[in-house]
Amino acid sequence: MTGDAVNYNRLDPAVEARVDELLARMTLAEKVGQLVQGAPLEPRPREEIERLQREAQEAGSSLPFEAIFQPRAALDGEIRSGAIGSVLNLADPKLVNRLQRIAVEETRLGIPLIIGSDVIHGFRTVFPIPLAESCTWNPELLERASRVAAEEASAHGIDWIFAPMVDVARDPRWGRIAEGAGEDVFLGAEMARARVRGFQAAGLESGRRVAACPKHYVAYGAAEAGRDYNTVDISERTLREVYLPPFQAAFEAGAGSVMSSFNEIGGVPVSASSHALRAILRDEWGWPGVVLSDYNAVGELVPHGVAADLSEAARLAALAGVDMDMMSGAYAAHLAGLVDSGAVPPGLVDEAVRRVLRLKLALGLFEHPYVDEALGERVVLREEHRALALEVARQSMVLLANDGLLPLTPSAGRVAVVGPLADARRDMLGTWTLFGREGDAETVLDGIRAAVGEGSVTHAPGCPVRGEGPADIEAAVAAARAADVVVAVLGESADMSGEARSRAHLGLPGRQQELLDALVAAGKPIVCVLMTGRPLVVPRLIEQVGALLVAWHGGIRAGRAVADLLFGAASPSGKLTAGWPRTEGQIPVYYGQKSTGRPAQSGVNQFGEPFTSRYIDTPNEPLFPFGHGLSYTTFAYRDLAVETPVVAAGGALAVSAVVENTGARAGDEVVQLYVRDVVGSVTRPLRELKGFRRVALQPGEAQTVRFEVPASELAFVGADLRRSVEAGAFQLWIGGSSVAELQGTFEVHQ
Ligand code: NOJ
Repeated sequence: MTGDAVNYNRLDPAVEARVDELLARMTLAEKVGQLVQGAPLEPRPREEIERLQREAQEAGSSLPFEAIFQPRAALDGEIRSGAIGSVLNLADPKLVNRLQRIAVEETRLGIPLIIGSDVIHGFRTVFPIPLAESCTWNPELLERASRVAAEEASAHGIDWIFAPMVDVARDPRWGRIAEGAGEDVFLGAEMARARVRGFQAAGLESGRRVAACPKHYVAYGAAEAGRDYNTVDISERTLREVYLPPFQAAFEAGAGSVMSSFNEIGGVPVSASSHALRAILRDEWGWPGVVLSDYNAVGELVPHGVAADLSEAARLAALAGVDMDMMSGAYAAHLAGLVDSGAVPPGLVDEAVRRVLRLKLALGLFEHPYVDEALGERVVLREEHRALALEVARQSMVLLANDGLLPLTPSAGRVAVVGPLADARRDMLGTWTLFGREGDAETVLDGIRAAVGEGSVTHAPGCPVRGEGPADIEAAVAAARAADVVVAVLGESADMSGEARSRAHLGLPGRQQELLDALVAAGKPIVCVLMTGRPLVVPRLIEQVGALLVAWHGGIRAGRAVADLLFGAASPSGKLTAGWPRTEGQIPVYYGQKSTGRPAQSGVNQFGEPFTSRYIDTPNEPLFPFGHGLSYTTFAYRDLAVETPVVAAGGALAVSAVVENTGARAGDEVVQLYVRDVVGSVTRPLRELKGFRRVALQPGEAQTVRFEVPASELAFVGADLRRSVEAGAFQLWIGGSSVAELQGTFEVHQ
């Protein structure tokens, strides 16, 4: 781990005493005000936006997102009257200080605002999208990246970061798979810990603190049919085994808040679920943090059909345990009245206010409400931040296939860099970048030009990312014909993944397949660089190209990172954290599926094996499984040693294997440990990741990689819905993906 982090879940008696003292002085209206989060900004009038856009264009740039907004007229008054305790999504230090001054100097009690914001994969230094970041399998690196995000954000007055997104996602149709760490529980929990520690790092240059807000609690990623905001209907076991653990990990790492999600689970919207928000968080886990609703999630209890109006929505949310209402206005309009009428006990409001004040005090806002207005510009895009963004981008990219075409040599001759994403600056930034600027980003074309010299590179986009036209496929084909090698940069634009960006078809959008077919006909070797926010369905593409590198939406340094990998300055080392299906019909196709009573035995066999759990028209396995990713070198595994063939319930499994770099180049390998509990009181997944380690090996170098897994990690939610370790036989595997073959066994004894 890289440094100290603040733990907001350790209660401090001095803070509690100050909360008591404040609570005793607060009116009901002031209390409700602390539970209201509102917008500081509103969009400028359309004509003004258009004028600013024109001006920016004339100056050769584009309008930054934040320039579209202006301060909301009513805000000052709301703060002054104590009607609002938090604002979201602003990063203008001058405005932060101005608003904070009203809260601190002009309200009766002087309680500072808490400024929350979406800083999902970097602030100005935009890192790869989180799904890509998780493919580094490098929590230490992500902790550092999150710290950089916190440094830059806090220097702009942000106290509260609405991240990490820790939703397990097993459906690539769901656009928000881009924002999380993929399909796995164990990996998701490790990444959650790392990100929380990074965001909440002690000793930020601003002298301020930041609180993380893991989201979206809970099971938001289990939306039926992968459609955003859609119904979730999962068992209590799945909730506890798959969707809760990353949140628990985030809290253990010190996260003192959580965001309650939009979705229902089995008929109860989470933002009205006392089971999720009270029974689990408070009664079972004893967690003292703040529950912030997602944006208008309280108001959406009305269209969900569990509340007749906004007042009832406020009542349900308050009773269930939503402490702060983001943007619905329900608490602002109705909570005081509900308390007055006896519909909401005053003690519940006091509890919620206590949690909010505790967080504000723990953040040090009462002592340091203001931010140094000059600091932000000095901190953003520092060379070490940019270098880190490059390193994360390099480690996040996944080489899915390579027939030997890669790495290219810088003297490869003429390179045709084609495809609609080859020079797509905005798309480098990915889905969730409020504060990123496209001018900061390097495209793949920039990277390749810098690597081989401008004179060796031709470029033609060929066709747009989506839609039918206008296209000039012929120009791209002509460039390909005149070149020695083609780099085709294809995939999704940044706005095709993320919130409300579900897709039913996961192939190449628009005319890109047509473009690729035409490039293939030109007869030159093709490297495909895929930019995407999700696993795509590319069985045809994979047959057509010599190599496929998944670059995701890789952040401001992704262009350089792609060039480094294509030309061998670095060897690819990312591994998938969500499987890539062969067809949409397989979804969900995660590695941790169950055996069923009629397991399929072999790979591809449509008719030879009747009455087993399989398709008659496609294999069960994904095209590329979880954990897969190639390097320019090769790794071999041997000498599995199970040091503890018998593990006591209170003990630990110890196992090692030797991994050797058997190729001719240096490379990093992500060594993975999987287990299977052979017989349990309830069915268990075929494999579960229980450990991983990234190791760097020189050609010919071998290393013994040892894992220790506490028996408690082998516990699961049994028939009685309680978590316990069950005695019995286990299998284990160590290797370079979820289909690792080096196998051993052990037993757990009570
Ligand atoms: C809605 C999104 O679901 C959430 O992730 C985000 O933090 C809020 N909007 C605030 O922007």
